[in-house]
Amino acid sequence: MQLIDGKALAQKVQTSINAEVEQLKQEKNIVPGLAVILIGDDPASHAYVKMKAKACENVGFYSITHNMPDTISQNEIIATIKMMNDNPRIDGILVQFPLPKHIDSDKILEVIDPKKDVDGFHACNIGRMVTNLDSFVACTPLGVMKMFEAYEIDLKGKDVCIVGASNIVGKPMAALLLNQDATVTVTHIHTKDLKSHTSKADIVIVGVGVPGLIKEDMIKEGAIVIDIGINRIEDGSLVGDVDFENVSPKCAYITPVPGGVGPMTIAMLLQNTLKAAKGRL
Ligand code: GUN
Repeated sequence: MQLIDGKALAQKVQTSINAEVEQLKQEKNIVPGLAVILIGDDPASHAYVKMKAKACENVGFYSITHNMPDTISQNEIIATIKMMNDNPRIDGILVQFPLPKHIDSDKILEVIDPKKDVDGFHACNIGRMVTNLDSFVACTPLGVMKMFEAYEIDLKGKDVCIVGASNIVGKPMAALLLNQDATVTVTHIHTKDLKSHTSKADIVIVGVGVPGLIKEDMIKEGAIVIDIGINRIEDGSLVGDVDFENVSPKCAYITPVPGGVGPMTIAMLLQNTLKAAKGRL
C-alpha cells in the first residue's frame, strides 16, 4: 500500500506557483488577485476560507475576503460580484459554499465572469470542460487528477466508481475521467446497491461526507482509493469517508485524511487564479 501524499504534492505545486508569481511581478507588474465571498458563520466555511487566504499570502497573491452576514440579500451579493467582475486587480472570484437557504446559488454563479470563475462552477466552464475545451475546472476534482498524474496512475480503460454526484465534485470528476478514457460509474444516495459498484472498481473516489462509509468488504484487492470526505467527528478529529484503518491494507494507493485531497484543492485554487491572472497578458 502506498499513501498518496497530497500535502507534499500541494507544497510542490505552491513552490512552482510562487516562482511564477515572482516572475509575473517582475516582468509584467502583475500581482494575481483573488476575491472570496463568505456568507454567514458556518465554522467549516470560515476555516476553509482562512486556509485559502493564507495560501494566497504564501504564494504572493493579493486577496480580499468579503465577509457578509447570512441576512444579506441576493441582490447585495450579486452587486458585490459585479464589482469584483469589474475590478482589474481581481483575477479570480470565489463564493464559498454552502450558501444560506434564501439565496439561489445558480443565480449567484451565473453572475461571475467565466474568465474569473476560478472555482470552475459557471455553466460556461462546465460545458467547456465536458467537451474537453480549455476551461476553469473545479478545484477538488482537478486536484485528484493532478494526484493521478503525479503518481503516474494510468486511467485509460480503468473502471472508476465515483461515490457522490454533486455539481462541485462528483459530476466534474466523472467528466474529467471520461476525457482520460476511463469507464466511469457515478453512484449517489439513490443507488440501489453501492457495494456492487465499488467492489468491482479499479479506482474508487468518494466524497459524500459520511464518516467510514467505505468499508473493507466494498473494495477489491489492489484498488486505488481517493477519499474526498472531510468530517469532524465527536472527539474533534478529522476523518474521511473511508474506514482508512481497515481499507488501506487492501489498496495499491490510498489518500489519507487529513493530508490527502484537501491540500490539493487549495493548491488548484491557486493554480486556477494564476491561470486567470495570465489571461491579463
Ligand atoms: N465548499 C466546499 N468546497 C468548495 C469549493 O471547492 N469551492 C467553494 N466555493 N465552496 C466550497
